[in-house]
Amino acid sequence: MKVIRTVSEMHSYSDSLRAAGKRIALVPTMGFLHEGHLSLMRLGSRHADTVIVSIFVNPIQFGPGEDFEDYPRDWDRDIELIESVGADCVFAPEVEEMYPEGYQTTVSVARISKNLCGMSRPTHFDGVTTVVAKLFAGVKPHCAVFGEKDFQQLMVIKRMTKDMNLDVDIIPGPIVREEDGIAMSSRNTYLTPEERTAARSLSQSLFEARKMVEDGERDAGVLIQHATDRITAEDLGQIDYIKVCSVDTLEDCTVIEGESVMALAVKFGKARLIDNIVLNPH
Ligand code: PAF
Repeated sequence: MKVIRTVSEMHSYSDSLRAAGKRIALVPTMGFLHEGHLSLMRLGSRHADTVIVSIFVNPIQFGPGEDFEDYPRDWDRDIELIESVGADCVFAPEVEEMYPEGYQTTVSVARISKNLCGMSRPTHFDGVTTVVAKLFAGVKPHCAVFGEKDFQQLMVIKRMTKDMNLDVDIIPGPIVREEDGIAMSSRNTYLTPEERTAARSLSQSLFEARKMVEDGERDAGVLIQHATDRITAEDLGQIDYIKVCSVDTLEDCTVIEGESVMALAVKFGKARLIDNIVLNPH
């Protein structure tokens, strides 16, 4: 498998693939891979001839005091996993390659970045959209795969791609869960066994919300209160937000009329976990 460290080598490789008529899928990651990432790579291979996985822990999407330095990294294991699913290439630039001295451009999506995670991580999505725009420019993919666990990230990237006329198809990949229902995340590794047990309340409260909607509940406040009670009963989690939003605008909704997303972020010690479920009243 090819490992590329520089943008110029990445350009040459992509140009040669494109000249040979190959379709390229990009799977952007920050490494410390798990089954969720591998499912995105498999999905990419169904949409393209060549799958390129990027591994880059992007410093500018971490706020002050967040876990950039401690973010888990395991290069050898990542490479083994990527090889196991048959991806073709890893693009793994150093920070200096992505943000050389003098770098000063930011890509920012104005409105849908502001709610949900944007409230407590005000600079996060600018960091994400900036690096994803750079990865698109570096890798020149035809399509790129993003997980639905980061629902807001997916919507923000879709918006950026559309607004900037970027010729990249954005493919959403379904959330992959552990056996106990916890959404897979590289940050699950931070959880103590007690926190891990308590964290099951996140997905459980979302599944219960879906059932409540299926049974006719339309009041977002009732769903939010139910999830709040469920999660606080566990005692260990500190709720950042629990919200029900329109899937299109990511603005809060009080009544579930159209397709909505219930999204939450809860801190367990050092781990800030996010999860969501799409609610369909019809
Ligand atoms: O979802 C992630 O792992 C990151 O936010 C991404 C999309 C790779 C950008 O750094």
